[in-house]
Amino acid sequence: MLKGKTAVITGGVRGIGKAIAKAFCRNGANVILCYRSNDAEAEKTAAELSGFGPQVKLVKGDVADPETAKRVAGLIKDEFDKKVDILVNNAGITNDKLMMRMSDEDFTKVIDANLNGTFYMMKELSALMVKKKNGVIINMASVSGLKGNPAQVNYSASKAGIVGMTLSAAKELGRRGIRVNAIAPGFIETDMTAVLTDEQKETAAKNITLGRLGQPEDIANAALFLASDMGAYITGQVISVDGGIIM
Ligand code: NAI
Repeated sequence: MLKGKTAVITGGVRGIGKAIAKAFCRNGANVILCYRSNDAEAEKTAAELSGFGPQVKLVKGDVADPETAKRVAGLIKDEFDKKVDILVNNAGITNDKLMMRMSDEDFTKVIDANLNGTFYMMKELSALMVKKKNGVIINMASVSGLKGNPAQVNYSASKAGIVGMTLSAAKELGRRGIRVNAIAPGFIETDMTAVLTDEQKETAAKNITLGRLGQPEDIANAALFLASDMGAYITGQVISVDGGIIM
């Protein structure tokens, strides 16, 4: 489905990002995976994905630093003939606290990583996509950005911001051959949610129509659909992949 395409996936070495990278590689795409700090985890994922055949490149850097997006663009110029077909802005963090206990730094750190990081990557890579009149951007939002969640004022603000940015970018870039969509995952079992107790997970599952928590592959399937020609007429949408969460 993605033979010969090149995809950039931020936070692509574990969790949802890794599942997306795996789905893309299995379907023929070269992948450039951005990660923040864990070299051993990154090398392990790269070795695992290399088995599928296409190229796997790693870029270490914080997406909250605009230089990281510039370095990714540099790699695409130097090693991929200035062509990038797919960008998945998946890197994200939480720092949950009730608002009255949330410091200014707690707030801005999450905005910097989730919202600003998405902006820097979209800005740099869409400039390359525009030159080729081709591209797909997928931004990772969250059910928290659509419906809110206690102790997540910072996180839900970042994810609601991503939704707004996705819609505006879709309108700016549609006539230049670039589709921009967001995925809003519900409760997915990864390191991000591993901090919760079994009891908290059971309570969460009770509020999900399909009666189970999601797996990273549930999100990867939606990303593959949007990234491929199966999604060729879809832009400016926020696709909820949440098992039917009831609020
Ligand atoms: P995770 O914590 O397992 O993985 C996140 C990845 O992003 C890690 O590899 C991390 O190193 C990377 N990352 C974080 N901040 C970064 C930064 N500043 N620079 C570079 N890399 C950075 O989390 P998970 O669950 O795989 O989440 C992936 C995305 O899905 C995130 O955007 C998250 O907000 C979103 N999401 C996850 C949900 C869940 O239930 N797990 C629900 C809704 C949205």
